[in-house]
Amino acid sequence: MEIRSVRGMNDLLGEEIHQWVHVENKIRKVFESFGYQEIRTPVLEKLEVFSGTVGDETDIVEKQMYQVITDSETYVLRPEGTASFMRAVLEHKLHITGQPARFYYYLPMFRHERPQKGRLRQFHQFGAELINDPSPEADAELICLLDQIYQSLGISEYRVRINSVGCLQCRPTYKDKLKDFFQPHLTNLCEQCQKRFHRSPMRILDCKREGCREIAKAAPLITHALCIECKTHHDRFKTCLTQAKVTFEEDPYIVRGLDYYSRSAFEFTSQLLGAQDALGGGGRYDGLSARFGETPFPAVGFGLGMERLMIALAEKQNLPKATSTPTFFLAPLGEKAFEFLYPLSLHLKRQGIWCEISYDKSKGLKWLLKQANRVNAHYSLLLGDEELKTGISILKDMKLGTQENIPIVSLSAELLRRTHREP
Ligand code: HAM
Repeated sequence: MEIRSVRGMNDLLGEEIHQWVHVENKIRKVFESFGYQEIRTPVLEKLEVFSGTVGDETDIVEKQMYQVITDSETYVLRPEGTASFMRAVLEHKLHITGQPARFYYYLPMFRHERPQKGRLRQFHQFGAELINDPSPEADAELICLLDQIYQSLGISEYRVRINSVGCLQCRPTYKDKLKDFFQPHLTNLCEQCQKRFHRSPMRILDCKREGCREIAKAAPLITHALCIECKTHHDRFKTCLTQAKVTFEEDPYIVRGLDYYSRSAFEFTSQLLGAQDALGGGGRYDGLSARFGETPFPAVGFGLGMERLMIALAEKQNLPKATSTPTFFLAPLGEKAFEFLYPLSLHLKRQGIWCEISYDKSKGLKWLLKQANRVNAHYSLLLGDEELKTGISILKDMKLGTQENIPIVSLSAELLRRTHREP
């Protein structure tokens, strides 16, 4: 039987790991400079964390959640980070001071979607969440942060698209207007949009099918339906983005795939990606805590997909080659030399120096040097019976092709000196 990984869930190996770690470290630095602190939540959450909070009519809750059913409970593999984050905030009362607080996470997410380029069933998201700040300045900060992450990685090929999805005051009236508009076109909408019409008509605006898009072109826009408070918030949001010199476009068709948003919503899309062109997205979700049955408090955030970011970086050839290689390769020619070099190899490792040694004591010089080349070691140290007799070992600089004699008595100190570490 051929055992393979689950479809849409990938192993990460070799050079890819180096590249991921390089990118992850850069992103963490940007989060730190914006004052965001890391938070980690479990992979499994109770079903209620997502159903009723993210929105029962969203694709995520309706069809994409992986469930783990035990005798007494139904758990789900986290499909997105914001509801888990909110559960943790409420559980640990992180919001109780009423002071703005900034958090970020880097976690795997699970969605049972149809896998394709840039769309996986297990994917990784960096997310940022800012709580207890209702201001449009906070919304703009999140966009600056996401923008800074991409810029710091050398990516500028993306569009920042923003919208306001209104609030509990103005959105119901807008939804009614949309329904009035779509009613006569109902039979011409796709099957999914016909369902959306009844439950979440705004999502029709987001449909990718040509027929639906054509109809939606003439639909009333939320921009003209915002209440005074939402409009003032949105105008100030745009002013802040202009002040921050972030180029953005207003796109009234951005509705986001999750139900908890209010006011600002945004998406970063990139032509470096394929059909799944959303690099990252987010928005304000002041009403989410109320969906957990708690007093509402303001919050805004975003999520960025690592796999999509890595596709964009590969497309731009902006990924580093794996650079770290061993400093030393110890080549013992025979048993006696091995007995001497084995403890030395462990000593060097304990000093923080990457040193390889062959545990096969029967190999000759040619084979050992081949291994040293294969692992790309900077130096190889040759020691056999002859060298043990004379008390002089040979250190070969594999990069320069030069070699020198080193007295065995001072071998450890000499090797450490070559790494600029005094013994
Ligand atoms: P989202 O738009 O569902 O938002 O996901 C954010 C990002 O995750 C997307 O822009 C995309 O880069 C990546 N992503 C989503 N699904 C997949 C997938 N199947 N495969 C690969 N990458 C994917 C959220 O999840 C919100 N929680 C963001 C947020 C945080 N809003 C407020 N705070």
